[in-house]
Amino acid sequence: MSDSQDRIIIFDTTLRDGEQSPGATLNKEEKLTIARQLARLGVDVIEAGFPFASPGDFEAVQTIAQQVGTPDGPTICGLARATRGDIKAAGEALEPAANKRIHTFIATSDIHLQYKLRKTREEVLAIAPEMVAYAKTFTDDVEFSPEDAGRSDPEFMYRVLEAVIDAGATTVNIPDTVGYTTPTEFGALIRGIKENVRNIDKAIISVHGHNDLGLAVANFLEAVKNGARQLECTINGIGERAGNAALEELVMALHVRRQYFNPFLGRPAESEEPLTQINTREIYKTSRLVSNLTGMFVQPNKAIVGANAFAHESGIHQDGVLKNKLTYEIMDAQSIGVNENQIVLGKHSGRNAFKSRLKELGFDLSENELNKAFLNFKKFADRKKEITDWDLESIVNDQIQQPPELYKLELAQVSCGDRLRPTATVTLRAPNGEEKTAVALGTGPVDAVYKAIHQIIDLPNELIEYTVQSVTAGIDALGEVTVRLRHEGRVFSGHAANTDVIVASAHAYVNALNRLYGAMQSPSFSAQAEPTVTSRV
Ligand code: KIV
Ligand code: ZN
Repeated sequence: MSDSQDRIIIFDTTLRDGEQSPGATLNKEEKLTIARQLARLGVDVIEAGFPFASPGDFEAVQTIAQQVGTPDGPTICGLARATRGDIKAAGEALEPAANKRIHTFIATSDIHLQYKLRKTREEVLAIAPEMVAYAKTFTDDVEFSPEDAGRSDPEFMYRVLEAVIDAGATTVNIPDTVGYTTPTEFGALIRGIKENVRNIDKAIISVHGHNDLGLAVANFLEAVKNGARQLECTINGIGERAGNAALEELVMALHVRRQYFNPFLGRPAESEEPLTQINTREIYKTSRLVSNLTGMFVQPNKAIVGANAFAHESGIHQDGVLKNKLTYEIMDAQSIGVNENQIVLGKHSGRNAFKSRLKELGFDLSENELNKAFLNFKKFADRKKEITDWDLESIVNDQIQQPPELYKLELAQVSCGDRLRPTATVTLRAPNGEEKTAVALGTGPVDAVYKAIHQIIDLPNELIEYTVQSVTAGIDALGEVTVRLRHEGRVFSGHAANTDVIVASAHAYVNALNRLYGAMQSPSFSAQAEPTVTSRV
């Protein structure tokens, strides 16, 4: 283990725990696009999903294993409960990856044992090493997690960890599953493991934590100081409930404060060698990609990647920054890739230039997808003179992200102004090919359009989020609209980009309704108002 002990391993679980955010469901193509970008970002391990949960999860993990799990790429990991069925599914889905890891877990807290598992400590102590040994028949790289470690009896957890390491676990991951611990407690938990688990030198200590009290990142940094060498995190901190520890915050804390952290990793304080393998200049792009594809909006004041993270509003701050950036800035926006927004293409750019720029940005489109994207690009280029990398990403993500087009928006037209009542005319093509038109009045143009759409696609739902963001500065910028709606406790998101925000709004709403409508066609839909325990951890 010693070769990687003096740097921090970044284990990204955006596609597994992050995807457990309500409404963040991603399709296979979207997961693949994110996995490719995570590889460009330089994460060490991608937890690509939970293969036993559904055939869709299995296929997504398998595809990522095939296409991103190349010999020089990241390790691809699949989650499995400590059961033979789960572990076998993970082993099979990961088979094509050059470097693969099975991550298996069972709870160790008395609360989980008594109410969820209905098992005794002795039973858990027997199952955990047996399942680790079984996972070893698929790969040498096996990670074990004692779920709800933060509320487990440490003495019992030490015994479980010793047993799984004896059985071959190469990483032991300590989850604060319910985000309950404080930094000092979590640091002490990790120190306790280092001091009391007899064979701990044979495994990497990892941490995983949820943000219920807003402490996940702080807990992880204390864990690093006490011996943790792998951090499990997600882009933008998305995940179950209040989310997971945010990758960008951890990486930048370790980067900006490396002189503080260096000694805890046995390095000279002044060492400039990075503590992680992350290419920080890919952070902003990755954040936007994940936000667009999951429909999870990033709050403007979010550390590192929020729209205001590098904005100085007050005169005193602006004056200071103009005199010397160091007065109010501890890191440079460029270090996370913010200012690398070059103008790359215009309406005269050809298909080859378009294709090669997309390739450089990490998009590997099929011929058909490329043709469609090129047509969209030309349409935008007619309206917007200069097309930046961010515009390109937005155009392509918008296309990739489309759910099956069950209802198709054919026309959205609005009249509004201070002397008019906002009135919308919308025409949709229904799945049976029939065209339907509706006219509606609204409090504003978007409300009028949504009411007209709702008259045609009459599915009961509550609009719980509507956001518009501009992709770049300038009056001709693309507007990206994200909507999230709720139906019987389940959340469906839709996303669209257009220079006309009313048109983007209409498309985003129809996308979300198509997701809902598509889900309703599935026979299991009504039995599944909330994600089930078997499909979610
Ligand atoms: O939060 C948690 O405990 C988990 C485990 C599966 C690691 O996600
Ligand atoms: Zn978790």
